[in-house]
Amino acid sequence: MEKVIKLHDKRFRVMIPAAKIDEAVGVVAARINADYRQKGVPLFIGVLNGAFMFLSDLIKKIEFDCEISFVKLASYCGTCSTGEVRSLIGLNNPIEGRHVVIVEDIVDTGESIEHMVRELEAMHPASIRVCTLFFKPGSYSKHIPIDYRALEIGNEFIVGYGLDYDQLGRNLKDVYVVTE
Ligand code: IMP
Ligand code: MG
Repeated sequence: MEKVIKLHDKRFRVMIPAAKIDEAVGVVAARINADYRQKGVPLFIGVLNGAFMFLSDLIKKIEFDCEISFVKLASYCGTCSTGEVRSLIGLNNPIEGRHVVIVEDIVDTGESIEHMVRELEAMHPASIRVCTLFFKPGSYSKHIPIDYRALEIGNEFIVGYGLDYDQLGRNLKDVYVVTE
């Protein structure tokens, strides 16, 4: 019988088993290996919290010298008249002149990634590319190119492999989708 788990008030069932995720991570890593082998020492920037598991598996498949850093997008209410303000925290490495790969767990509407790319661009890196484990093409409404997409899904809500539902579910090795 299909395994159903409960997190807070919702039930979830397996949508993508761990083996399929591993396969998709391998495909994306092979593309990055081909694209960056001749580009010095790129910097991978993982976006916390969600991307910790993806970045740790991805980086084990990277075959060139690279550096890793993590950032967080902190949300706060600025003046409250302009709505939510987000800012990037935790980046200690200077990125000027560096090739940067942002590693995200999921790109949904694209709000977060757009903020991140704009802030990083202001620091004058040599290049910025975005690598995401999950991409929701039906929801994405921005123009930032999402260069590496391991898996595309519909607009459903998923958890597991780093992604959470109100902080629960990040530890699951398979990815689950909410059920009715
Ligand atoms: P965006 O700014 O709309 O692209 O949303 C990005 C953020 O929303 C992600 O970094 C996640 O934290 C969260 N998110 C969007 N879709 C999901 C989902 O299906 N499951 C868990 N978190 C999600
Ligand atoms: Mg995220």
